[in-house]
Amino acid sequence: MSIDKKFIDQIIKVSSKAAYASSLLVGKNDKIAADKAAVDTMRTELNSLDIKGKVVIGEGELDEAPMLYIGEILGTKNGPEIDIAVDPVEGTNFAAKNLPGALSVISIAEKGNLFHAPETYMDKIAAYVEEKNIVDLDFNIKKNLDNLAQYKNKNIKDLTVCILDRPRHKKIIDEIHNLKAKTKLITDGDVAGALLVTKEEFNVDLFLGIGGGPEGVLAASALDSFGCFFQGRFIFDNDEDKKRAKAMGINDLEKKYSLNEIVSGDSIFCATGITSGDLVKGISVNGNTFTSETLVTHKKSNLKKNISKTYDI
Ligand code: FBP
Repeated sequence: MSIDKKFIDQIIKVSSKAAYASSLLVGKNDKIAADKAAVDTMRTELNSLDIKGKVVIGEGELDEAPMLYIGEILGTKNGPEIDIAVDPVEGTNFAAKNLPGALSVISIAEKGNLFHAPETYMDKIAAYVEEKNIVDLDFNIKKNLDNLAQYKNKNIKDLTVCILDRPRHKKIIDEIHNLKAKTKLITDGDVAGALLVTKEEFNVDLFLGIGGGPEGVLAASALDSFGCFFQGRFIFDNDEDKKRAKAMGINDLEKKYSLNEIVSGDSIFCATGITSGDLVKGISVNGNTFTSETLVTHKKSNLKKNISKTYDI
């Protein structure tokens, strides 16, 4: 089973239109409005597709989000059953403040093949390694860097670790520096952060740290097409989250998920730039048209590239 290639262009259009809608609110210091514009547009676009889509990662539970809520069925229902994960604006602060790196992100997979992730934090690790036991969530930072240096035939001092700049990561950031390795500290946007391991030109050898669980699933779906390594472990630190997890069928709250337990089978991933960043350029407007740049992956056809498209406004 696979996802028909015809959906590639259609999904690029979904994230491009959402990115454009949000781009109209870039720099207005209103992250809720920037997000809402993308949510509304993404939903309208998805509803026009010949799919029977189910949101597995969205804006929250039905009681929290009227649109793109988890479980919402989208599309004309004349087509394949598909799981949909969305983050209409990844990096809402970037959009609100007109900073680099705001993205509109979506991933689709065959029904049942995308993890239905809870809205909690996830401890994540990603690297461009094909073998197991080189890097691992359960290794300490020294072991991860030692192994990776050996695997990549580099010195530890030449390795760069991308991590969200948060007080919760202080200890690990200090350890990285004590080991003489480099950090790339990001203020937000850890979907893009994780994807920086995919190409040499980004100069990131390892991504790790705690960020959003839904963002982890989205990153995993692109990393799968790139043949990268990824692991994630959800963090349930209050009773409410634990109850929700159990209701979702997660019994082992400590479980370390490998990439293919998060996304399996065929998938299409699209991340369109709202503002320009490391991965893709932002939206540009020219008269009555706009141009978007989207990082697109499709597992089955081994597609992984940036695609520019121009649409009428
Ligand atoms: P939003 O776009 O929803 O604001 O998320 C941005 C983000 O930086 C994610 O990329 C990341 O996973 C998460 O927030 C980290 O959460 P926190 O800011 O609570 O550390």
